[in-house]
This record gives sequence, C-alpha cells and structure tokens, in this order.
Amino acid sequence: MNLIPYGLYPFLVKPLLFLSQPETAHGLTIKAGKLFSHEPFLSLCGQTVAYRPTEVMGLKFNNPVGLAAGLDKNAEAIDYFGALGFGFIEVGTVTPKPQDGNPKPRMFRIPQACGIINRMGFNNKGVDFLVENIKRRTYKGILGVSIGKNETTPLEHAAEDYLTCMRKVYPFTDYIAVNVSCPNTPGLTSLQHEDALLALLKPLKDEQILLADKFGKYVPLVVKLSPDLSDEALESLCNVCINLKIDALSCTNTTVSREIIHDLPHASEWGGLSGEPLRARSTQVLAKVHKILDGKIPLIGIGGVDGAIAAREKFAAGASLVQIYSALVFKGPYVVKNIVDNI
Ligand SMILES: Cc1cc2nc3c(=O)[nH]c(=O)nc-3n(C[C@H](O)[C@H](O)[C@H](O)COP(=O)(O)O)c2cc1C
Repeated sequence: MNLIPYGLYPFLVKPLLFLSQPETAHGLTIKAGKLFSHEPFLSLCGQTVAYRPTEVMGLKFNNPVGLAAGLDKNAEAIDYFGALGFGFIEVGTVTPKPQDGNPKPRMFRIPQACGIINRMGFNNKGVDFLVENIKRRTYKGILGVSIGKNETTPLEHAAEDYLTCMRKVYPFTDYIAVNVSCPNTPGLTSLQHEDALLALLKPLKDEQILLADKFGKYVPLVVKLSPDLSDEALESLCNVCINLKIDALSCTNTTVSREIIHDLPHASEWGGLSGEPLRARSTQVLAKVHKILDGKIPLIGIGGVDGAIAAREKFAAGASLVQIYSALVFKGPYVVKNIVDNI
C-alpha cells in the first residue's frame, strides 16, 4: 500500500528535521520508526515496490536494494524499514558491551553536497539488546547484522569481541557483516592489513563452521571495506578473503578524504564522509575489487547511491546488491521505491 505520500518528504518533513541537529533528527527518525513498526501504523506506512528477486550468497532477496549499517544500530525499527520496500536490512554495528561512542556533536550535514560527516564511534546498546530486538521482528526479508569491537578492547583481542557478537547473533540473522573499516574507532581500519585481517577472519570462519553445524544453518560472512585503501592493500585483502572463502565483500564504508568538499562548511570535522561526495571513490574501489576477485566473491556496492542511475553504476562496476544510508536523509523513503522500481 502507498498511503503516505513519501514523495513530499523533501518539501514537508525534511525542512522540519533539518531544523534540528543531525543526531536529534536521527533519534526522532528511529523513535518514529519504532512506533511505526507496530500495527495499525505498519500497514499504513508501507510502500509497494517492484519485485526484483535475486540470489546472492545463497540467500534469496526480494530486490537488491538494502539499508546500510549504522542507521538502525540497535535494530529498533526493522519492521518499519522493511515496510519501506528494502530487499534487505543491515542493523548494527553492534559491540559486545553497550558503549556511548564519541563526544557530541559527532554528525554533520553538508547539504550543499548531499553529504554527511560522522564520527559516532559505534554508539550502541550492546549485542544482547540487539538480539532481543531482532528476535521480535516480523519483517520477513533478509537481515544482516554488522559486528564490531568495543573501543576499550585492545586491537590484539579484537577477534574475541567479533566472536562474542557472532555467537550471539548467529541463530537470528541471515548474514553477518564484519566491520573493519569504520574510521571512527581508533586503529580499527588497521585490521584490514593482511596479517591482522587473517588473524581476525580465520577464527570467525572456523567458528562459522561450528555454528553452522550447531544450528543447522549456514550464515554467510561479509567483510566491509574502507574506500581509503591503496591498490596494494586491496590486492592483499582480496587474496585473504578468497583464501578464507569469505562469502561477500561490501564496498565501501565512509571515507576520511575531503578532496571533493574541502571548501564546504564542516569539511574540517574529523570522521567518515558519506553520500554524494563518496560515490565516485566507492565505485572506483568496487570496480578494482571486482577486477581482482574475478567473480570469486559477490559484492555489495555502497556509497552515494541516491537513485536508479547511481545504483546502476554500482551494478555495472560489479555489485550484485546495493545499500543506501545518506540518500534516505536527503531524499526520504521514496528513494527506496524510486531505485527498486527503476533498476
Ligand atoms: C551516521 C552514520 C553512521 C554510520 N554507522 C555505521 C556503522 O555503524 N557501521 C557501518 O558498517 N557503517 C556505518 N556507516 C556507513 C554506512 O553504512 C555506509 O557505508 C556509508 O554511509 C556510505 O553509504 P551512503 O553514501 O549511502 O551513506 C554509517 C554512516 C553514517 C552516515
């Protein structure tokens, strides 16, 4: 049903939301999403989108357009986001213990560029809270959980944090995304270096075999990459993932580069940049990774997807699925329908 005229979001809702600080607006969105996740609102605020079935990692998606990690960090509004027509939803990034994240303000809009800089730092209510929420969902589409490490956990013990999250979410999710590319947790992106990545992913792959046996279901592991890696780093990272039979790679997380927006307000804020200014860079990385992998591992394209053309560019560069975050902020829920119907 399309009862709510989401096409009016840029004219009615966005101006109101943009009167508040970005994080306040985000909090309001999650609160509304929580409320709308229940009947009778859920049936009223749904959007009908085209059925575009696709199979990736052995999972069947109703369409290849997903919600990127970080918007619903605690899995509080899955049913609402599902009703908007997403083919899959990635919640998290979640850590074993709850944590506050970085001091506020830590999210900045760059409206001139339809971009966002954030340095949230994995603020979340912990994996137990998330698990209770995902157990309660009525959403029938594909769900992914993005996992990370607590800031206080030393990098050399990172694998233990990822394993803790993996064991807890495994029975209740369709795939698990390993976030090693967030620029806002000190040292995290160094986990993408060859030896560190192997030391992290090998125990996760071993655990996947044990858990698949225990629960009688295979939950694919996805690794999310940074757009700021050199060609050499991408090459070695891809080889580690091929050797370990990682199930998919996500390209990309946010960038620390400010090349395109250096003269715009907030450009000097530290953190990860997303949205339109990330699009070309993330598509370049996607294309490079696609070339290196030579079809051995499927890819999820993320970064600046704000319409059907941007999504088509990701598919042309090798993606089997795409995800969006910033476009929801600037264009509203209608962007989901617009993309799914026109790809
Ligand atoms: C405020 C904010 C918080 C984010 N938090 C996470 C996160 O917790 N985990 C993650 O993997 N990516 C996170 N991301 C990155 C997005 O998932 C996505 O990779 C990035 O925003 C690029 O997509 P976009 O251009 O469509 O926004 C976050 C992005 C934003 C804007």
